[in-house]
Amino acid sequence: MLEVKSVTRMFGQKAAVDRASFRIDGPAFVGIIGRSGAGKSTFLRMMNRLVDASSGEILVDGCNVLALKGREARAWQSQCAMIFQQFNLVPRMDVASNVLHGILNRRSTLQTMFNHWPRADILRALEILDRLGIAEQAPKRAEALSGGQQQRVAIARALMQDPRIILADEPIASLDPMNAQVVMDTLKRINVEDGRMVIANLHTLDTARRYCDRVIGMRDGRIVFDGTPDQLSTGVARDIYGADASFNESATSTAIPADAAADKDWAAQMLA
Ligand SMILES: Nc1ncnc2c1ncn2[C@@H]1O[C@H](COP(=O)(O)OP(=O)(O)OP(=O)(O)O)[C@@H](O)[C@H]1O
Ligand SMILES: [Mg+2]
Repeated sequence: MLEVKSVTRMFGQKAAVDRASFRIDGPAFVGIIGRSGAGKSTFLRMMNRLVDASSGEILVDGCNVLALKGREARAWQSQCAMIFQQFNLVPRMDVASNVLHGILNRRSTLQTMFNHWPRADILRALEILDRLGIAEQAPKRAEALSGGQQQRVAIARALMQDPRIILADEPIASLDPMNAQVVMDTLKRINVEDGRMVIANLHTLDTARRYCDRVIGMRDGRIVFDGTPDQLSTGVARDIYGADASFNESATSTAIPADAAADKDWAAQMLA
């Protein structure tokens, strides 16, 4: 299904990603690990076409997505939705509108400018929020939610696109352990229940071991490990991270206290 063939990205003289190759046949949960600067984000950005590759191919069902242009490139981008460490929501906008923005480019500008969404879209957004356990947050401003809730809103926005692949760049790096678990469980459910491939850059080995079917280790732009979590021994981890590395980076919380921004007439307004 997905074949990465010798993908390289140069920044000046330096290869951020250096002839990366691997193949994924089914809708797997794939973790990419490696120390800071290893090339993990650059790789995901190339997949999503946010960054151009210098050379190589990424074949999805035989089609080289790196060669797509214009409308076809945009269609591919909506097939592989991105999730970011900092959620990238519009903080002052309500949660449901943030989710609806997942399909902004498929709807008329005039309608969406005035927040007039087709009823079917609104119902779908609410359904997705309900599935992720945060339906009651729909009318609140995104900034009023905890970090874990905000990341679930970002996942809901991604699901609104109905993507084949979810690319997550350090999705839990800004979350406390409890919220991190909820977000990882959510991504895993989407992978298992919907059969969507998830490729996540992860900064702890424990998370990679716990959630991934497949782990890819990068070092200095190159893939130095490609295997299953149980093959990820301490020796292998040292190869990936370097002998001086500590394997337990701590996560910090960015939870924002909820405020009373909820507007009880909101649902009625949205559905009017
Ligand atoms: N726009 C850019 N211009 C120049 N160099 C860049 C650019 N983006 C990334 N790089 C370089 O490419 C290398 C890989 O960066 P990348 O952000 O992909 O690493 P990463 O594995 O995601 O690291 P982190 O864990 O810190 O997020 C680094 O050396 C970085 O400095
Ligand atoms: Mg990164």
